Amino acid sequence: MEYDTLTARKLTPRIGAIIEGVELGKPLGEAQVADLRKALADHQVIFFRNQDLDPARLKEVGAHFGPLARHALKGLPDHPEVRKLHADETSKHVAGEEWHSDMTCAPKPPMGSILYLHTLPSLGGDTVFSSMYAAYDALSDRMKTYLEGLTATHDGKLAFGRFDPTGNYPVAVHPVIRTHPETGKKVIFVNPGFTSHINELSKLESDAILNFLYQHCANEYFQVRFTWEPHSVAFWDNRCTQHLAIWDYFPEVRSGYRVQIEDEQAPVA
Ligand code: SIN
Repeated sequence: MEYDTLTARKLTPRIGAIIEGVELGKPLGEAQVADLRKALADHQVIFFRNQDLDPARLKEVGAHFGPLARHALKGLPDHPEVRKLHADETSKHVAGEEWHSDMTCAPKPPMGSILYLHTLPSLGGDTVFSSMYAAYDALSDRMKTYLEGLTATHDGKLAFGRFDPTGNYPVAVHPVIRTHPETGKKVIFVNPGFTSHINELSKLESDAILNFLYQHCANEYFQVRFTWEPHSVAFWDNRCTQHLAIWDYFPEVRSGYRVQIEDEQAPVA
């Protein structure tokens, strides 16, 4: 895979690459943005080291890829599109401690998210990403046929109720198997963070199928595990990946900022 303005070093055969030759803190040219788009489509999640960002610059970087989406939870007072991610000795929960794609409770979940971390614990705090292309491809043909045409409900309260039980969160219905709008490839689009049930099945059937899919999607063969350093960035395609933030560093501090980029369309089968 070749790019004019950057290099991408694959981290696993199926998902993830480290990008070199890009300074996100400086203005990005059109060719660089086009290469980053292509690298995201090629690798599903791309990582950067030693980046000099703050909330305002992170917003500018995200805006190259589409309008920024507001998160269901509150953003920064001066930058409402930017969410602060912070864990320390007072934390009861952290964002992403369960496998999920971001905000699938929205009618149009974000196409991608960019996370910048400036402060890391002395050890731990990795993020694991799983390829939903690889997960779909590994299903048997009979299971692919069975899942085709099913829809699932995604409920924001499942993910965010623990942070603020009084909040009013969106609920949305999406196909269980969706087609990625850019690559045309199919992915599994249910996740334990947000999906409450498969609409066309009884509760017992739905729980059994969802549990199977969650176990299947968490297979290590579909994954890349990213070990952060201060000032690293991860940019993931939310339409074809799930991720899990490992909270193994309590009571230490892990801190940074995140933006989400709107998708142009709702998920289609
Ligand atoms: C998230 O967006 O789910 C959090 C990811 C992380 O903190 O590594």
